[in-house]
Amino acid sequence: MRIGVIGCGKISSIYFKNLTQLTQTDVVRCADLDVERAKEAAARFGVPAAGTVDELLADPSVDLVVNLTIPAAHVEVGLAAVRAGKHVYGEKPLAITTASAGQLLTEATDAGVRVGSAPDTFLGAGLQTARALLDEGAIGTPLSGAVFMLSPGHEHWHPAPDFYYQPGGGPLFDMGPYYLTGLVSLLGPVAAVSAVATSGYATRRTPQGREIRVEVPTHVNAVLEFEGGATVTAVFSFDVPASTIPHGIELYGSDGTLVVDDPNNFGGPVLVGGRDVEWREESLRTPWSADSRGLGVAEMVEAIEAGRDHRASGALALHVLDIMESIHTAAERGARLPVASTCPRPAPFTGLA
Ligand SMILES: NC(=O)c1ccc[n+]([C@@H]2O[C@H](COP(=O)([O-])OP(=O)(O)OC[C@H]3O[C@@H](n4cnc5c(N)ncnc54)[C@H](O)[C@@H]3O)[C@@H](O)[C@H]2O)c1
Repeated sequence: MRIGVIGCGKISSIYFKNLTQLTQTDVVRCADLDVERAKEAAARFGVPAAGTVDELLADPSVDLVVNLTIPAAHVEVGLAAVRAGKHVYGEKPLAITTASAGQLLTEATDAGVRVGSAPDTFLGAGLQTARALLDEGAIGTPLSGAVFMLSPGHEHWHPAPDFYYQPGGGPLFDMGPYYLTGLVSLLGPVAAVSAVATSGYATRRTPQGREIRVEVPTHVNAVLEFEGGATVTAVFSFDVPASTIPHGIELYGSDGTLVVDDPNNFGGPVLVGGRDVEWREESLRTPWSADSRGLGVAEMVEAIEAGRDHRASGALALHVLDIMESIHTAAERGARLPVASTCPRPAPFTGLA
C-alpha cells in the first residue's frame, strides 16, 4: 500500500527506515509544516516526493497517511487525511481529548477508511511472548500488577521538548500509551481508575537554559481496575532524578509472576517466577524484538487488504486515551471514576504474512 508520511521530526527516522524496507508499505511522499525538513527526509530515505501537507493530501497515489506530527495536531491532520479519503495511522496519543478522538473515528467510519494508532510495541516479541504465556496459564489467574515509569523528563534529550509539558503531553499522555496498551493487550479493557497527580515544578529548563512552562501533571499515581478483575498500580513521572525501579510490567497471578521489559521497546527479556521456583527467562516467541516502529502500519495494511480488523486500532487507542483522561479527571476530583469506553482485547500477533 502507498504511504504518505506527515511530520518529519525526531521520531520519523525510524519510521522512514522501517516503512521503506517492509514489503507491505511503499512510502511515496512526505510532508511537514517545515517543507525543507520534509525534503531533507525524502533525500535521506529515498522518498520520491516531498512538500506541503495539502500537496500530500491531494495526491491520489497516497492510500494511507502516517501522521507523525505533535499530539496537538494529531486530530486536525487525521481528519484532513480522512476527509481526503485516506486511511490514517498516527503516533500516540491518538488525540488530546477522547471527544476529538471520537470525532476522528466516527468520520473515518462514515468515510469507509481505517484509523490506526501507535504504540505498536505491544505487537513486539516481548509483549507478545508475555501474552502467549498468560493465555497458556503460566501464572494462573492474573490478580494484580505494577508498572513504574520514573524519569527526569524529556527536556534533557529532545530538541523541541515543549509539547511534553502542554496538554497532550506529561508522563501519562506521553509514556502511558506504551504501558496501558500493553496492559490492555495482556489483561483486557479497564473498567475504573483512581489517581493522585502533582506537578513538582511550575517551570523547567532545557540543557541550554531555556524555560518551559509546565501545564500538565508531571507525577501521576494511578490504580487501574480491569474488567477481568485484576488491579494494577501505575506510576508515571517526569519528576524523578534517578531510580532503580525498572521500566517494565509486572503481573502477579494465582500461580506465579510474569515480568516483561520496558513496553516502550519491542523485545524482552520476559521472566516467569513463583513462590518456590527460580526466575526463568522465556524464549521470545516472535522475531520482532528490534525497534520495529511501523510494524503496526504493516499489520494494518495486511488487515485492510484481507478485510479483517487491524490490531493497533483506533478503538484500542481511544480506550487507552479514555483511561488516561479518566486518570487525570479522577486526580482532579479526588474520586474513583468508571472508564466509559471499552474495546476488544486485541488478537495475539505472531507475525506478518
Ligand atoms: N521522539 C520520540 O522519541 C518519540 C517516540 C515515540 C513517539 N513519539 C511521538 O511521535 C510524535 C512526534 O514526535 P517527535 O518527537 O518526532 O516530534 P518533533 O517535534 O520532533 O516532530 C514533529 C514534526 O511534525 C511537524 N508538524 C507539527 N504540526 C504539524 C502539522 N499540523 N502539519 C504538518 N507537520 C506538522 C513539525 O514541524 C515537526 O517536524 C508525537 O506524537 C510523539 O508523542 C515520539
